[in-house]
Amino acid sequence: MDLLEKIKEKARKQKKRIVLPEGSEPRTLQAANQIIQEGLAEIILIGNPDEIINYSKENNLSYIRKADIINPLEHEKKEYYTDMLVEIRKSKGLTREQAVELVEDPLYLAVLMIKNGDADGEVAGADNATGDVLRPAFQIVKTLPGISVVSGAFIMILKDKEFGENGILVFADCAVHPDPTARELAEIAVATGQTTKAIAGFEPKIAMLSFSTKGSAKHEMVDKVVEATNIAKEMNPELLIEGELQVDAAIIEAIGVKKAPGSKIAGKANVLVFPTLESGNIAYKLVQRLAHAEAIGPVLQGMAAPINDLSRGCSVSDIVNLVAITSNQAANK
Ligand code: ACO
Repeated sequence: MDLLEKIKEKARKQKKRIVLPEGSEPRTLQAANQIIQEGLAEIILIGNPDEIINYSKENNLSYIRKADIINPLEHEKKEYYTDMLVEIRKSKGLTREQAVELVEDPLYLAVLMIKNGDADGEVAGADNATGDVLRPAFQIVKTLPGISVVSGAFIMILKDKEFGENGILVFADCAVHPDPTARELAEIAVATGQTTKAIAGFEPKIAMLSFSTKGSAKHEMVDKVVEATNIAKEMNPELLIEGELQVDAAIIEAIGVKKAPGSKIAGKANVLVFPTLESGNIAYKLVQRLAHAEAIGPVLQGMAAPINDLSRGCSVSDIVNLVAITSNQAANK
């Protein structure tokens, strides 16, 4: 069974409640229909009920009748969620008038539902930019204890099985935090180790990447990666992690042996942690395009609840897959 099938199988067993705030977006509706048909999750759609029902009828999406449909403009918990939002954001000066407006925004409503235990996870982004999906999540559900920064991992499935874990590598951060400090980079490494175990299903061997291997270059950017590696080891002494390593030393055995002799990770890494978002985002897209790798994600990590962001260019199957991953994260919580 391949990795995606395993993820789907686990989702089917858990049947988590996933909220899709872009409820009337056509790809989202087609994905929701497929998810319900395949039994991957219970679906809550936020949107105009008439639009959702009409589109479903016109396109033979017969399983949509099994979804819960929430109209963001009028539903029984509107007042209650408004009070909740005022309470959560009062230290930031949010007024009741502002909260009344925000609660009608499906992206805020979805996160409030999760915070209140009315949904287990969220997938959005087919119609909204990353920042607009993430901001309500950062403000309302916040991060896990001990983690201050949310980041995004990609599970990269290569055609060439000689790299990583039988052709699978996990890359991070490729999606969220532009320029992490050493402490934040350490948190990203620890969180990526957890994602690797929980979603990719193997023991992480983490390479902290740089343009230098074990002191071959001197620069403050290299110092940051070395410091991050040390902090990550303090955060989790069990973690198999090494830095700083160049990417060839991290993934190619012969080069790892030469550049970092005696290392347990060099040449065998199955998790690559990039020093900045630029490098991580560019790297995953290059590997996806030039090596024709399958890129599953971004899987958001470090958030106190499973919330995941799609690319606006996503396909129906991207949405189905991300809902299955979100259900797995909810099950592991
Ligand atoms: N983790 C946790 N919390 C965060 C993070 C983070 N990475 N970033 C910001 N926050 C929190 C802040 O602490 C703040 O909380 P508060 O209001 O309770 O004090 C809140 O979020 C808003 O902070 P801002 O600094 O105003 O955040 P902003 O909205 O400006 O930026 C954002 C956050 C949108 C995620 C920004 O970092 C960003 O644009 N990142 C790049 C995203 C992107 O474009 N990725 C590439 C595309 S994705 C892809 O290709 C797969």
